[in-house]
Amino acid sequence: MGNSKTRFKTFNKDEAIKLVEPFARVEGPILLALQKIQDEFGYVDRDAVEIIAQVCNVSIAEVHGVLTYYTDFRTTPSALIDVKVCVAEACQSLGSRKLVNDVSQALNTKMHSQSVDETVQLNQVFCLGNCALAPAVMVDHKLIGRATGEKVLKEVEKKKKEYL
Ligand code: FES
Repeated sequence: MGNSKTRFKTFNKDEAIKLVEPFARVEGPILLALQKIQDEFGYVDRDAVEIIAQVCNVSIAEVHGVLTYYTDFRTTPSALIDVKVCVAEACQSLGSRKLVNDVSQALNTKMHSQSVDETVQLNQVFCLGNCALAPAVMVDHKLIGRATGEKVLKEVEKKKKEYL
């Protein structure tokens, strides 16, 4: 998988250690440290798992357990923009199946894949906590209610302008 278009920094161990160190003395450091790593590098590198374990004095298994429990964490480099389409019950009852097709077409991307130009990663998720405004889509951290392919495309274009 390519990673030529990304707004994230390239993973490096020294920087990862510096990012994780402030969490060494807080309670429940693993989740916070993983979030910090992902915010900075766009994903959690395998080396980051070891770094968190060492710096926070926890086992690799514990870090791995948290990493794999939360579906939001990525273990491979991220595309420029993350698009998540909710396919849980409330959204399904309001057309998320069609929405998946519409969004895939609008972004020229298959589900669970990156677009050819590596700018968009499209995934499905189960509930974005926005059931009242189903169907819901998340474009990076922006939640879109009553989503349509058009609305999603518009937000993606906006993000591209912001990032590139
Ligand atoms: S079911 Fe889609 S946001 Fe909750």
